Amino acid sequence: MGQGFPPVRKAVFPVAGMGTRFLPATKVMPKEMLPINDRPLIQYVYEEAREAGIEEFIFVTGRHKEMLEEHFDHQPELESVLQARGKDSMLDKVRDSEMPAGRLFLTRQPKALGLGHAVWCAARLVGAEPFAVLLPDDIVHAPEQGCLAQMMEVYRARGGNVVAARDVPLEDTSKYGIVDHAAEDGPVVEVRGLVEKPAPAAAPSRLSVIGRYILQPEVFAQLEAQEAGAGGEIQLTDAMARLIGAQPFSALRFAGRHFDCGGRLGFIAANLAFGLADPGLAPQLRGVLDGLSA
Ligand code: UTP
Repeated sequence: MGQGFPPVRKAVFPVAGMGTRFLPATKVMPKEMLPINDRPLIQYVYEEAREAGIEEFIFVTGRHKEMLEEHFDHQPELESVLQARGKDSMLDKVRDSEMPAGRLFLTRQPKALGLGHAVWCAARLVGAEPFAVLLPDDIVHAPEQGCLAQMMEVYRARGGNVVAARDVPLEDTSKYGIVDHAAEDGPVVEVRGLVEKPAPAAAPSRLSVIGRYILQPEVFAQLEAQEAGAGGEIQLTDAMARLIGAQPFSALRFAGRHFDCGGRLGFIAANLAFGLADPGLAPQLRGVLDGLSA
């Protein structure tokens, strides 16, 4: 492989958050099970990781999240009903949502203390190798090549840590982790600093990090201190920022359209975009949209 950087075989999916922005929908159902078109959020990120060559899928779960692991299980009754009814394409879809035996690993985050803490909870399952983190809140529509697969190409060329990034309006910097970067030389930039949710006046750029990361295992030592940062949460951004300088750190302006599905607006927008990209649905959906805007 490339310059011989160790392969990224494992991905961590933090799914222990409370999902308060969707209440009451998420009182009982995990936010990560909300569907975009025909698949729940968690399945989009699973498929993106699988496409990128990930072999081990580590869920950091919490209370009331059992539905997430069940979603990836074999469902024999359902499959035999679909088979008997000759619903082959539906059967294929169900089978595609099953995780092969021995690939799903679970750990718990007892309290939702922040994303950094959730990632730290996976430290023993990840061990001493580079790994990916995918947040199911962040959905990227990239028909040609998934976001994580694009990041893997950067990793194979440069090693170290890689985050996915996109430009946001200046007034929105206080919602995201923002990159301080060296001069632009294409879609990949060298990260010089990371700031969590800066006010526009203090923001080093408009380039915001989305929920896709390739990280070196040294980040766990940085998370070990478990210091609370912005919003009183243990922040992944703070731990990553401490690796800059010691290891290569790149941000990729990925190709594709990003949807922040952690909130209702992004979630609805994603449903529209994926519906319009679905040939079986697009013509009728366009008709519905025309009717609504008339
Ligand atoms: P969010 O910041 O969106 O938090 O987490 P949340 O609790 O899920 O949602 P809101 O803000 O209350 O509506 C981003 C991702 O990180 C996970 C979440 O499950 C989500 O996938 N997360 C967050 C954890 O696993 N543990 C945490 O302590 C915080």
